[in-house]
Amino acid sequence: MTGPGFRVLYDERMIQGRLNALADDIARAMAPDLIAIAILKGSFIFAADLIRALHARGLSPHVDFMTLSSYGTATQSSGTVTLLRDAEIDVRGQQVLLLDDILDSGRTLAFASRHLADKGAATVKTCVLLDKYAAKGNALAKADFAAFACPDDFVVGYGMDYAHMYRELPFVAVLDQKGVRD
Ligand code: IMP
Ligand code: MG
Repeated sequence: MTGPGFRVLYDERMIQGRLNALADDIARAMAPDLIAIAILKGSFIFAADLIRALHARGLSPHVDFMTLSSYGTATQSSGTVTLLRDAEIDVRGQQVLLLDDILDSGRTLAFASRHLADKGAATVKTCVLLDKYAAKGNALAKADFAAFACPDDFVVGYGMDYAHMYRELPFVAVLDQKGVRD
């Protein structure tokens, strides 16, 4: 199922192993009734697996979603983050855990953290599947929890897309140029 055009970085077994360790870290650091806010769309599979790993550790997160956009269908960030849909849960005085697929420039997490702090969240911690910071540095925000370091390549799978494709792949893979059709 890896076909031409993909180079697998992290397979299902590696991802589940790291999510269990991440859930241990989060369970030690945060209140059991934390609010988990997943940033759509790229984090939906990561969030689904992580919140079940949190449940297995006795946490009972309240779960909500916000939709932010910084990418169109290109592989480069537009540089502006837009709030397309806000979370509905009242975050005032609460511990919030923001979940995103990738920390790249850090603009998305910086924007979302500031937005939730402005709405009165007591603390906002950030958790990403992939952190590109180690590959290039200079991120505007850093993640409190990260499952994997990620090379500064365009990656897809496990919820992440290129032009709405490849979210269904169970692994994280680098998309080679020959997999990019425009
Ligand atoms: P940042 O705002 O530059 O940190 O970008 C983070 C957002 O860009 C994430 O929410 C991802 O959705 C998206 N993104 C960054 N790199 C990639 C990638 O390699 N593949 C897919 N999406 C990416
Ligand atoms: Mg995203």
